[in-house]
Amino acid sequence: MDHFTLRDGVLHAEDVPIPAIAAAVGSPVYIYSRATLTRHAQVFLAGLGGVPRKHVAFAVKSNPNLAVLRLLAKEGFGADCVSGGEVERALAAGMAPEGIVFSGVGKTAAELKRGLEAGIGQFNLESEEEGVELAQIAAALGLTARCALRVNPDVDAGTHGKISTGKAENKFGVAYDKAAGIYGRLSALPGLEMRGLAVHIGSQLASLEPLEAAFTRMGVLMQDIRVQGDNVTHMDLGGGIGVPYKAGDRMPSPADYGAMVARVTGNWGTTLMFEPGRVISGNSGVLVTRVIRVKPGVSAPFVVVDAAMNDLARPALYDAWHDFIAVEPTGAQMVANIVGPICESSDTFAMGRTIDAVGAGDLAVFRTAGAYGATMANTYNSRALVPEVMVDGDKWAIVADRIEPATILAAERVPDWLD
Ligand code: LLP
Repeated sequence: MDHFTLRDGVLHAEDVPIPAIAAAVGSPVYIYSRATLTRHAQVFLAGLGGVPRKHVAFAVKSNPNLAVLRLLAKEGFGADCVSGGEVERALAAGMAPEGIVFSGVGKTAAELKRGLEAGIGQFNLESEEEGVELAQIAAALGLTARCALRVNPDVDAGTHGKISTGKAENKFGVAYDKAAGIYGRLSALPGLEMRGLAVHIGSQLASLEPLEAAFTRMGVLMQDIRVQGDNVTHMDLGGGIGVPYKAGDRMPSPADYGAMVARVTGNWGTTLMFEPGRVISGNSGVLVTRVIRVKPGVSAPFVVVDAAMNDLARPALYDAWHDFIAVEPTGAQMVANIVGPICESSDTFAMGRTIDAVGAGDLAVFRTAGAYGATMANTYNSRALVPEVMVDGDKWAIVADRIEPATILAAERVPDWLD
C-alpha cells in the first residue's frame, strides 16, 4: 500500500499534486512519501511481533537519503551499512552507533578503523582474513569489535542472477562447511568478540522457501558452534523480501515472513537482527518524468522521456519492470516503447508496453522507485544528478538538490602540462 493516488484526475503524493512539485523542482525528480515509509516500517516491525529480542537495521544502500534515514531512526530502526560513506550518513541522520551493522565484502582497513572508533554495533565479517585484520586494528586501538560471521549457505534464492548472493559461487560470506572452524579461530583472537552469524541470500525474493531453508541451515550451524564451545548470542537474518512491481506480482507479506522466522528460530535463544531495504523503501517512492516527445517506431512509437538510465538504472541493469503511469491520465491507452535520451539502446524502460496515452509535455511517473533508484543514479552523458523530494501530508521539501553538470564540471581540472 502506498500514498500515491489519483485525486480529481491528478496523481498526488499524499496531499500534494505531483504537477506542483514538478513545476517547482523540474524533472526528473524522485518523490518519497513519508506516510508510506512510516507505514512500511511499522508493518515490518509488527510482522516480527512473535520475535522477542530483535534489532532491525535498514539497508541503507536501498535508499541512503538523509531524510529517509532520519525518519527510520525515529521509527526505531538502525542501519545496515556497506561502506564508510554509508556509516557517515547513518551517523549524520542521528542513528546510534550501536544500532549500526557494518556489512560489505571489501571493507578497507581505514573503514574498519573508523567503524571501531565510531563504536559501530556489529561488524559482519565476510572472511577469516577480514576478521584477523579487524582484530589487529582493534587490539592496537585498545578496543573490542563485536562481530558476526557472514556465512554463504549455498541456497538458491530464485531471484535475478545479478542480485543473488547465497550460492556457493557468489563472493559473499564464508563457505558453510568452513564456518564453524573459522568462527572458533576468530573467537580466540584478542580484539574480537564473536557473537553471531549473518546470512543474506539475495534481494527481491518472491518466496519464503529459500529463506526458510537458509535460516534452518544457519540454526544447525549455530548449534555446531555452540557445541564446540563458542558463544552465539546474535543471528543476523539479512534482508531480501520482494515487493510488487507490477499487477499480479505476489510477494511474501511481512506478517508471513515474521511468522516463518518465529517458527524457525523459536528455540535459538538469540537476539535476531534484520536488514530490510526494498520492502521498506521500494513502494515509498516514484520517479517523476516529463515526456520530451513521441516519435514513430517500427512496431510502436517511442515515448522519449526526460528520465534516463542514469536516473533509474534498474531496467537497464536487470531488465526490471517499473509501472509507468500518467500524472493526468485521460483514460486512453497506447502501446509504446519508453526510452530515455541517453545514447545507448540499454536506455530503455519498456518495449511494446500498453501504457496511459501520453504526448509531448505530459508528466508521468515510474512507480516503485524508492529502493535502488536515486542511490544508483550517476551523471552519464553529463546529465544532472537527479534531485529528491519528500512529501508529508500537504507539505513537501527538497531532500536532495539536483547536482547540475556545471557543478560536476567545476570539480574537474586540466593540468597545465596539457596546454
Ligand atoms: N543485507 C545485505 C547484506 C545485502 O547485500 C542487501 C542487498 C540487503 C541486506 C537488502 O536487501 P533488500 O531487503 O533490499 O532486498 N540494486 C539491486 C539490489 C541489490 C541488493 C544488494 N543487497 C536492485 O536494484 O534490484
